[in-house]
Amino acid sequence: MSSEVNQFEEQEFTTQINRGTVIRILAQVRPYWRWVLGFMVSISLVSVIEASFNILSMQIIDEGIIGGNRETLISLFIQYGLRMFILACLVYVFIILCGQLGERVQYDMRKKMFQHMQTLSFSYFDRTPVGWLMSRVTSDSSRISDLVTWGMLDVTWAVVNITTALLFMFTINWQLTLVVMAVLPVLLRIAAWFQVRILVQFRDSRKMNSKITGALNENITGVRVVKAVRREEKNLEEFNELTGGMYRSAFKAAWLSALFLPAVQMISAIAVISVIWIGGLQVPTGMSIGAIQAFVAYIVFMMWPVQDMARVYAQMQQAVASAERVFALLDTPAEIVDRPNAKDPGTLRGEIVFENVEFYYEKDKPVLKDFNLTVRAGETIALVGPTGHGKSTIVNLMCRFYEPRGGRILINGQDYLDMPLHAIHSRIGMVLQTPHLFSGTIRENIRYGRLNATDEEIETAAKLAGAHDFIITLDKGYDEQVGEGGVLLSVGQKQLLSLARAILADPELFIMDEATSSVDTLTESLIQQGMDTIMEGRTSFVIAHRLSTIRKADRILVIENGKIAEMGSHAELIRQKGHYYDLYTNQFKQELEAKYTKAIETGEYEAVVIAQEEKQATGD
Ligand SMILES: Nc1ncnc2c1ncn2[C@@H]1O[C@H](COP(=O)(O)OP(=O)(O)OP(=O)(O)O)[C@@H](O)[C@H]1O
Ligand SMILES: [Mg+2]
Repeated sequence: MSSEVNQFEEQEFTTQINRGTVIRILAQVRPYWRWVLGFMVSISLVSVIEASFNILSMQIIDEGIIGGNRETLISLFIQYGLRMFILACLVYVFIILCGQLGERVQYDMRKKMFQHMQTLSFSYFDRTPVGWLMSRVTSDSSRISDLVTWGMLDVTWAVVNITTALLFMFTINWQLTLVVMAVLPVLLRIAAWFQVRILVQFRDSRKMNSKITGALNENITGVRVVKAVRREEKNLEEFNELTGGMYRSAFKAAWLSALFLPAVQMISAIAVISVIWIGGLQVPTGMSIGAIQAFVAYIVFMMWPVQDMARVYAQMQQAVASAERVFALLDTPAEIVDRPNAKDPGTLRGEIVFENVEFYYEKDKPVLKDFNLTVRAGETIALVGPTGHGKSTIVNLMCRFYEPRGGRILINGQDYLDMPLHAIHSRIGMVLQTPHLFSGTIRENIRYGRLNATDEEIETAAKLAGAHDFIITLDKGYDEQVGEGGVLLSVGQKQLLSLARAILADPELFIMDEATSSVDTLTESLIQQGMDTIMEGRTSFVIAHRLSTIRKADRILVIENGKIAEMGSHAELIRQKGHYYDLYTNQFKQELEAKYTKAIETGEYEAVVIAQEEKQATGD
């Protein structure tokens, strides 16, 4: 277990930047190369114009102020204003381009991931934590898009800034430029030293933060359990430890950041003082005051990107790590796909045969071994048996959510591997053990069964399923919101809606994994009615926990250790006095008695009648 968890532990940074990954990242922006070119050109122009301001200032000082030439001064100011205006326009352009490009790249990647995830098989989701997938789609895609927009922008800006600054400096005075270039490597080293340490602290604090979020999430969603088992104190202790750790990392990061800027400023100051001193010595031999001032300005101009380089590089590493995870997801092949010559049989009605079917989820833990079963068209099969012995596995295989590892499943004589997945899935109606509803209204949830259904059809389906009566008691009826995952409804109500959804879909094959959780007697009889409606004339597999369902099945299979331990109708199996008989006497009969007694106690006349009928029907 622990090794599995580690596999999904976040690797925030990659130590080496893989060329293949970088090329693939760039491929993501290829369709938008014009935008990239656009923002690169505008940021370069911005950099050049900014650099030219220093020359302009030099001219203003030397020619306008010291030279005392009013005309020149005015024309220089006009130039200043004009360049300022162009600069503003260019800044606007690159922000717009980068922002929009970022959104597009993110959208593309999220769409690709989402589309791909929909094709992946159940076995992938068994292995992969949901949180891991969510992070890929949200934070990783935004990191990648940041890299190809603001990251690229930063790099372009830095390169152009440093080059133009050096060029302008050389044109003013080459000796002084060499002095500045001597300071540059020192600055780079110091910046890298600080940035790496700051990033490590930030990374630690981020890791802690995600742990804290996880702990919060568990505590909030599990608040009932936490209170019930009185773990409040212990949990608080653990939480304090985590927040304490985060505080320490964040504090260190802040402390380092606070030191970093003064350090850079000191080095800049050394460069500035050297320039003023050496430049000052040259004033008698023709060096102007304006030129010295321009030099100082260029040093400051260059320092920004230099101190930023380490951060940009670290962000790059981070984005590449993100990209590797995203690409790993996109490269995961779907295990269950259509075979090349798959042919739609047109219907699933007909005989279904499981022929020597073998299956396991994990290699050396076989679940089904040499499983054989023949189901006639229209037959209702009830699967019963102890927990974890393979009932759900059988229906998962039937739906082709997983495929047999050995043997075959034939529908109407044709191996179902030779049919397209769509042909199978579109003709099967399923009600799961924990019925899943989507946030939205009741009507929308039923409509999931068939998207083009009219409101009348939805209501008819709800009536057939026995859901209509409870729906109309809700404030907004069919337009009532069900909440995320249907939390606003009870388990029984969710089942009724799932049944309505399945009835609306009018499937050829019906599969139901009954919930074990008990619902009240009246709801149960409603569910039973709904099931009777949908099973009428359809081949059905029901993993049954309620006697009422089991009794109505044409055949009951008792599944033990992935094998059929017993098979027959209720009456037959009772007579055999085998596994089913034990199950019946030890479980069902008692449940039935309990239900009957409870109905009498609560004085619910209808429930008493139902329970009584059931008792009689089982032949007691
Ligand atoms: N996704 C999975 N990955 C790995 N093992 C699984 C998976 N699903 C089920 N198993 C294992 O396969 C065996 C059969 O499980 P299955 O869900 O078919 O049992 P079941 O009869 O439906 O039980 P229940 O009555 O509790 O629903 C169990 O041992 C279970 O641990
Ligand atoms: Mg099950």
